[in-house]
Amino acid sequence: MKLSVIILAAGQGTRMKSVLPKVMHKLAGKPMLEHVYNRSVELGTDDIHIVYGHGGEHLHDYCSDFNVEWVLQDEQLGTAHAVQQASPHIDDDHIALILYGDVPLIKSSTLRTLIDNVTADTVSLLTVDLQDPGGYGRIVREDNEVIAIVEHKEATELQKKITEVNTGILAIQASFLNEYLNKIDNNNVQGEYYLTDLIELAVKDGKKILTSQPENMYEVEGVNDRNQLSRLERIKQQDLAEAIMAEGASVADPARVDIRGDLVIGNDSFIDINCIFEGKVSVGKNVTIGAGCVISDSTIADGCVIKPYSVIEKAIIDNNVEVGPFARLRPGTRLKQNSKVGNFVEVKNTQLGEGSKASHLTYLGDTDVGSKVNIGAGTITCNYDGANKHKTIIKDGAFIGSDSQLVAPVTIGENSTIGAGSTITRDTEDGALTLSRAAQKTIKGWEKPKKK
Ligand code: UD1
Ligand code: CA
Repeated sequence: MKLSVIILAAGQGTRMKSVLPKVMHKLAGKPMLEHVYNRSVELGTDDIHIVYGHGGEHLHDYCSDFNVEWVLQDEQLGTAHAVQQASPHIDDDHIALILYGDVPLIKSSTLRTLIDNVTADTVSLLTVDLQDPGGYGRIVREDNEVIAIVEHKEATELQKKITEVNTGILAIQASFLNEYLNKIDNNNVQGEYYLTDLIELAVKDGKKILTSQPENMYEVEGVNDRNQLSRLERIKQQDLAEAIMAEGASVADPARVDIRGDLVIGNDSFIDINCIFEGKVSVGKNVTIGAGCVISDSTIADGCVIKPYSVIEKAIIDNNVEVGPFARLRPGTRLKQNSKVGNFVEVKNTQLGEGSKASHLTYLGDTDVGSKVNIGAGTITCNYDGANKHKTIIKDGAFIGSDSQLVAPVTIGENSTIGAGSTITRDTEDGALTLSRAAQKTIKGWEKPKKK
């Protein structure tokens, strides 16, 4: 049977105390809804329906690249009502899988087992055993067979003692889902249409309820407030760190690394404590990333050493480059093989050629630096005239003396030298020494000012 997925995401999540719909709150850098969407895609279906209620504009904006049907549930009248907004659009002979946008850590392996249990004669239900089942729907069994789910608020004292509870996640053939949903009413304590009433209807129709359990409890934990979100965040981070280590990279402390997006990292690389990775980051083999680095949307090739407290955004770094400590690489930075960017160096929209170095206290903006260039401490490219940005070109083999200002647009000639402390406003000749500073003079017998 083909698979269709319905993701319920209409709840506002008042306990988040946020203008954002609950499912847009981020876990490991992605909205909770995106995690559930990704797990659905992993199951190999392209028929995914998201039932939303609040903040549709946020959802559509952020999730515009999701391949899904968006279904509006205007009023939240209960989980059965929510499912019913989407289920009539699903082919009768498909399996319908119900997921929740605020249950973000569900694993596709768990869902695979659940789906495999669905036949024309069975309904598949994910349950867990809880020491403290308070609040959850209880799984009622007779002769060991599931006969109903009773919501906590409807349960008798005896039923409240049942520790097997409903996770809400279930799979069923779509034709039966629609048939049973049509029969569900809201005659209950909460005046809601309960999806859980479906179980009793299925049993009365001669269906067997097959239950399965997730490997980990956190897979079925829902997020209602920011405290629960932060707990699941740490669980997810531990998972991501373990995945990296399984691939052959080392992490100094899995509890002190944050991957907010997608990190790919090669073997024998090492991540020290308190590093943050955002967006899509790709790191090669044998790379060392020192403590406290923040790296987003960047590529770092093999053998690089990123020293502590460097901040790297939208940069491309080739093999064997050394960066930091305390370096800032801004968007459009390209560092070629064996180059070096040292402490307190800021680089923006700039290419640094093979073997070139800017080791200390420098700003390079809108600059094209050739190979084997040495940029002395305190060099500044003056790329901005207050209105427009201009380009600096530094040709191969040039040597820029310390504390120089290169006023763009300007080109520094090949193998040329700029004397320390120069302000360069015109292009310089290849191979020559150019300097612009007053000749040194000595005033003998100079008397220091005296206090009046
Ligand atoms: C539900 C189950 C309960 C189960 C528990 C697990 C029902 C009636 N009860 O209870 O058996 O133990 O989940 O967490 O299904 N939603 C909508 N539209 C609605 C109502 C809900 O989209 O009209 C979404 C919510 O955003 C939420 C999810 O469905 O993500 C669950 O709804 P909620 O009202 O929280 O159900 P519970 O009372 O937790
Ligand atoms: Ca809930």
